[in-house]
Amino acid sequence: MPNTLFYGDNLEVLRRHGRDETVDLCYIDPPFNSKRNYNQIYNNIGGEDRAQAQAFTDTWIWDDHAIQGFEEVIANDRGRFQGQTVQLIKGLHSVLKEGSLLAYLVHITLRVVEIYRLLKPTGSFYLHCDPTASHYLKIVCDSIFCSQGGDFKSEIVWRRTGSHNKTQRYAPIHDIIFFYTKSSKYTWNNPKRPYMQGHVDENFIKDDQGYRTNYYGNVLTGSGIRGGESGKSWRGINPTEKGRHWAIPGAVIEEIDEDLSELTQHEKLDRLVELGYISIDPTQAWPIYARYIKSTDGQPVPDIWAYQPYTSGTVFGTTDGIDEDVRWLATKDSERLGYPTQKPEGLLQRIIETSSNKGDVVLDAYGGCGTTIAVAQRLKREWIGIDITYQSISLVLRRLEKAFGADSLSKVILNGIPQDIQSAVALANKKDDRVRKEFEKWAVLTFTNNRAVINDKKGADQGIDGRAYFLTGKRDNAKVIFQVKSGHVKRGDIATLRGDMGRENAVIGVLITLEQATGAMVKEAKAAGQYKHELMGRTYDTIQIVTIEEVLDGKRLDIPMSLEVLKAAQREVEDKQMILGVQPSRIESF
Ligand SMILES: C[S@@+](CC[C@H](N)C(=O)[O-])C[C@H]1O[C@@H](n2cnc3c(N)ncnc32)[C@H](O)[C@@H]1O
Repeated sequence: MPNTLFYGDNLEVLRRHGRDETVDLCYIDPPFNSKRNYNQIYNNIGGEDRAQAQAFTDTWIWDDHAIQGFEEVIANDRGRFQGQTVQLIKGLHSVLKEGSLLAYLVHITLRVVEIYRLLKPTGSFYLHCDPTASHYLKIVCDSIFCSQGGDFKSEIVWRRTGSHNKTQRYAPIHDIIFFYTKSSKYTWNNPKRPYMQGHVDENFIKDDQGYRTNYYGNVLTGSGIRGGESGKSWRGINPTEKGRHWAIPGAVIEEIDEDLSELTQHEKLDRLVELGYISIDPTQAWPIYARYIKSTDGQPVPDIWAYQPYTSGTVFGTTDGIDEDVRWLATKDSERLGYPTQKPEGLLQRIIETSSNKGDVVLDAYGGCGTTIAVAQRLKREWIGIDITYQSISLVLRRLEKAFGADSLSKVILNGIPQDIQSAVALANKKDDRVRKEFEKWAVLTFTNNRAVINDKKGADQGIDGRAYFLTGKRDNAKVIFQVKSGHVKRGDIATLRGDMGRENAVIGVLITLEQATGAMVKEAKAAGQYKHELMGRTYDTIQIVTIEEVLDGKRLDIPMSLEVLKAAQREVEDKQMILGVQPSRIESF
């Protein structure tokens, strides 16, 4: 199934499509119960002010979804839940009562249960949250993982921002990431954090060969006399005479990239000499453990991931490597795509590199703008992404296209996105209070190959569902506006579109309609005349009517655009002027 992008509620997707024990690593970054709604920001698009459109909501109420989910857990529907989980949710119900927090916890419980089922026995799970609900989420995850042989491994504190809070409490600057494994045998690639030059200067000794550890003296011995080889003379040094015995510390053994466990004590010491870790200096009372460090060495990654922009300095062994220990995204960071709550690629890189290998399957059930997906793709993992909003799906496609080239899209399987008129109608009629205007967003973003800026505003421009900009000169651009109609259309809609074009100063207006346009509408649209694109030497109908059927057949806005909808994602292939028209080729629908 990888690499697959699912559009829909992750619970439905996981239950319907998720096969048992198929996922190596799952990272989720669900809404945190912040009681806010989040907007996608479009910066400097077409010289307009910052535009925004709602991306997702994080307000929870005790609604039908919550009631249904709660009843499923309590009734232990299909035996999906562990007894501990059922008891926990019952307990939380009596403590918290039916309200927003319980609704949120029930939502997460249902999904983590499915994720646990999907994980391979060697799989790992990371839940990204913050202190708003982390303490509750921990007991939810414990009840699911630890009751079935899984293990809670770490609570990672990630510094997500600088300190800027002016309220009367300590500035909230960290998120929490819980790390669980499905069993005691799991993928763990020994992550290391590079040594900082300052640390190396302070703690290592520099000689002609480089920097070496400063373990002097009796580091290779322990106090007390022992029998056997440990107490015997080695290379002319007798530890017993000095009341000691040969003992190699675990930390030294760990530094060696080979298994010494089968060797005797003297053989181990010999091997350490062969590998260059021990130097015997006649002027010293004891052999010196002298490991020279390489730029790839470092300390084991701790559970606090806190980038310090001004104090961390340079990474050992590089001339310009600044420590970027999972740095946060600065306001003007080039990685930013305008998606609220976007996580930095460095964070996902550490998680994916630590808990999976090339070719493994990585799942993100709350995909957002696709950080996990983009990093998984770059690190040559297979991936599965899910999101409930089309804006997110569109952004992920755009991000993949920009970072890995248009061809990469042909390898993406899309699921849940309308592919025929029935599913388009179903989307138009779908009632889901967790999302807004999904049909309109899907239509505009699909027709523009994810280039449009979604318009969510209410008020005077209520009728417009999106805008797009195209280059008309070196610095000038012109605007296209889009209206989407899922119901009855009539001649008056063309007049309204013309009015909107005048108010918006748009040169082209596109009406995307589910129903066929009437002859009178087509006539009226033709009467609006044509727009001449001087740069391209082409003319376009000023008012264009496009049916959903045509969009499904692959019709796209064919004006070349150089102003992109969102700030550039980091790209590996710079594709300067893109003619619209590349779509994922392999498509599955529900
Ligand atoms: C905090 S954001 C994830 C951000 C992401 N980690 C990134 O770096 O872009 C949460 C995402 O979960 C999605 N979401 C919320 N409820 C969902 C559900 N029931 N099924 C699938 N996606 C959902 C939202 O649309 C939003 O994009």
